[in-house]
Amino acid sequence: MKKQRIDYTDYANTITKALKKGIFLTTKAGEKVNSMVIGWGHVGQVWNLPVFVAYVRDSRYTRELLDQNPEFTINVPIGDVDKKAFSICGSKSGRDMDKINEAGLTLVPPEVISVPGIKEFPLTLECKVLYRQEENVSELPEDIQKKFYGIETGAHIIYFGQILAAYLIED
Ligand SMILES: Cc1cc2nc3c(=O)[nH]c(=O)nc-3n(C[C@H](O)[C@H](O)[C@H](O)COP(=O)(O)O)c2cc1C
Repeated sequence: MKKQRIDYTDYANTITKALKKGIFLTTKAGEKVNSMVIGWGHVGQVWNLPVFVAYVRDSRYTRELLDQNPEFTINVPIGDVDKKAFSICGSKSGRDMDKINEAGLTLVPPEVISVPGIKEFPLTLECKVLYRQEENVSELPEDIQKKFYGIETGAHIIYFGQILAAYLIED
């Protein structure tokens, strides 16, 4: 499998636009690989390092896997969108099924971290968590608290992942 190295800043716009529809955040702990759709996130620079910042609700299985192995891969669809993968990875939990298998996704060996990428969504960022911070929901504006947080929907954990490799997966 060929990979074309990229400068992530050249793709910041593509990533930001794709986030509106959803992109894929993949984790791995032991032999278990799991991918979820995320819509909240951003690329940029923190501590003079390139980072992807993700917001993962405390209740997600992904959060459990990140606790065990604080690395994640970001995969951004280019072109046609695979509705089945979005539906499975964006609504089912990896606690209950092997979502990668169910969605028919192809894992690609990583370059630097231990978490694979996804061939079908070629723009790939390999990230290692530098810092995590749970949202203090009570400090958010009231309308946002009401809209996004309730008894069953807890806070997000904000993960700052250092981008250690960025590339496009090619056939
Ligand atoms: C378009 C879209 C965007 C989403 N964005 C996020 C997000 O930014 N953070 C989050 O915690 N969940 C988000 N979700 C929900 C998760 O993808 C969903 O709950 C998933 O089933 C969690 O999987 P897991 O339990 O295997 O980790 C989003 C779902 C969709 C469809």
